[in-house]
Amino acid sequence: SNEIAGDLSKVLLTQQEIHDKIAELSRRIEADYEGENLLLVGVLKGAVMVMADLARELKLPLNMDWMAVSSYGSGTKSSGVVRILKDLDSDLTGRKVLIVEDIIDSGLTLSWLRANLESRGAASVEICALLRKPDAAKVEVDVRYVGFDIPNEFVVGYGLDYAEKYRNLRDVGVLAPHVYS
Ligand code: PRP
Ligand code: MN
Ligand code: MG
Repeated sequence: SNEIAGDLSKVLLTQQEIHDKIAELSRRIEADYEGENLLLVGVLKGAVMVMADLARELKLPLNMDWMAVSSYGSGTKSSGVVRILKDLDSDLTGRKVLIVEDIIDSGLTLSWLRANLESRGAASVEICALLRKPDAAKVEVDVRYVGFDIPNEFVVGYGLDYAEKYRNLRDVGVLAPHVYS
């Protein structure tokens, strides 16, 4: 398929497995938000693939909006202090919001983001994340829709990057050590 797939030490989730999981999550979301006007909030840039596939799978009326966030400081995101690079265009007052993320690692991004969106008067703020790394959690985040719990390894593809590369891989894979060592 894609030649950059040679930088993976293994494929963790195939595009078929991802597709099936997103369909499964969509059926749950449809049941939970029936009759509502849902707002999907995608977190740039990692969530673009999940957002695109989830939104098209959902048989619900919905709106899509985007945020871009970044940690303060250089490199590490362990502080949990987040800065908004691009804010939502939507007014959240009374809205049913579903944050769409590719991965929960430490949990710090989503923990901050949920509190931030709740403070804007949303009727509800829930989270859908394709991937979660339980062994990397620094803060517990209540996530209603989780695709896969995965080992604490460096994963890329399907939106997830290493140094802004590999986002366009169709599978999720473990990055081979030779790439970053
Ligand atoms: C990644 C990922 C999540 C976040 C998870 O985003 O897409 O948004 O980190 O990490 P956490 O649970 O430890 O907070 P990143 O900051 O790399 O930006 P990107 O989405 O543009 O790649
Ligand atoms: Mn991200
Ligand atoms: Mg990233």
